[in-house]
Amino acid sequence: MEKVCIVGASGKLGQYMVQHSLNRGFHVIGVCREQSVGKLERFKDRITLIPGMTNDREVIKEAVAGCDGVLTVLVPWGMDNYSSGTAQAVMDLAEPNARIIFSCGWHISRDGQDKYSWKIKFLVNVGGWIAKKLRLVDLDDQVEACRRIFASDTHWTVVRGSDLEEGESQGLPFWSEHVGDPILESNLTRRTDFALFMVDALENGDLIQKAPAIVGSQTPSAIAYKHVT
Ligand SMILES: NC(=O)c1ccc[n+]([C@@H]2O[C@H](COP(=O)([O-])OP(=O)(O)OC[C@H]3O[C@@H](n4cnc5c(N)ncnc54)[C@H](OP(=O)(O)O)[C@@H]3O)[C@@H](O)[C@H]2O)c1
Repeated sequence: MEKVCIVGASGKLGQYMVQHSLNRGFHVIGVCREQSVGKLERFKDRITLIPGMTNDREVIKEAVAGCDGVLTVLVPWGMDNYSSGTAQAVMDLAEPNARIIFSCGWHISRDGQDKYSWKIKFLVNVGGWIAKKLRLVDLDDQVEACRRIFASDTHWTVVRGSDLEEGESQGLPFWSEHVGDPILESNLTRRTDFALFMVDALENGDLIQKAPAIVGSQTPSAIAYKHVT
């Protein structure tokens, strides 16, 4: 991996991904909204920044050109199909054999085999409904984005993040195929390690066309079940 594009580079996850990518010696192209360019000030001499909306196909076309990897933060903001527009642009315009990695949450299910706690169901159903009524967030569009990714024959990985916390890295998270698997029970990952998993996935061929659900490697469930699953 030499040249990597980070779509949504200015957010919390995005900034960690920039740092991990630079640590690995990758040449980084970042895409972020015009008004967020300042959040990447500390990286300005080390990355190439292309300001613009992440669902703008012209912006994405320029940003992904020549990249062997694309890391995309999928967010369900607004009511303009932002997530699905972003995912579609990346899938259509990335180099043919590029590794393309997307972030989302546990609520996304690839095969319907995930088993969710009442808390997650409540947050997604009730919280998601309220946020949609307020026209702030459209979780259905993130679901649609992932449906399109799962149906594509590109070299995708969809990384499904648990609840997140800040703090020092605890190393690469563990993962499992389905929410509800015992190793994931702790439902907590450091945000920097979520980013680490995304960057590491670029060079992990075993994750091609997989949707790993992740959990912090130092959480109780990860420690208890790491030899079992
Ligand atoms: N938060 C959690 O607990 C959690 C849990 C599991 C998984 N995840 C996943 O982790 C990823 C990152 O989530 P995060 O919560 O940690 O947030 P984050 O990294 O801070 O990312 C938020 C992103 O949304 C963009 N954004 C904010 N407001 C926007 C708007 N009105 N219109 C368009 N874009 C907007 C931000 O861009 P600007 O920098 O331009 O504002 C940034 O790129 C997502 O894929 C999410 O599904 C999050």
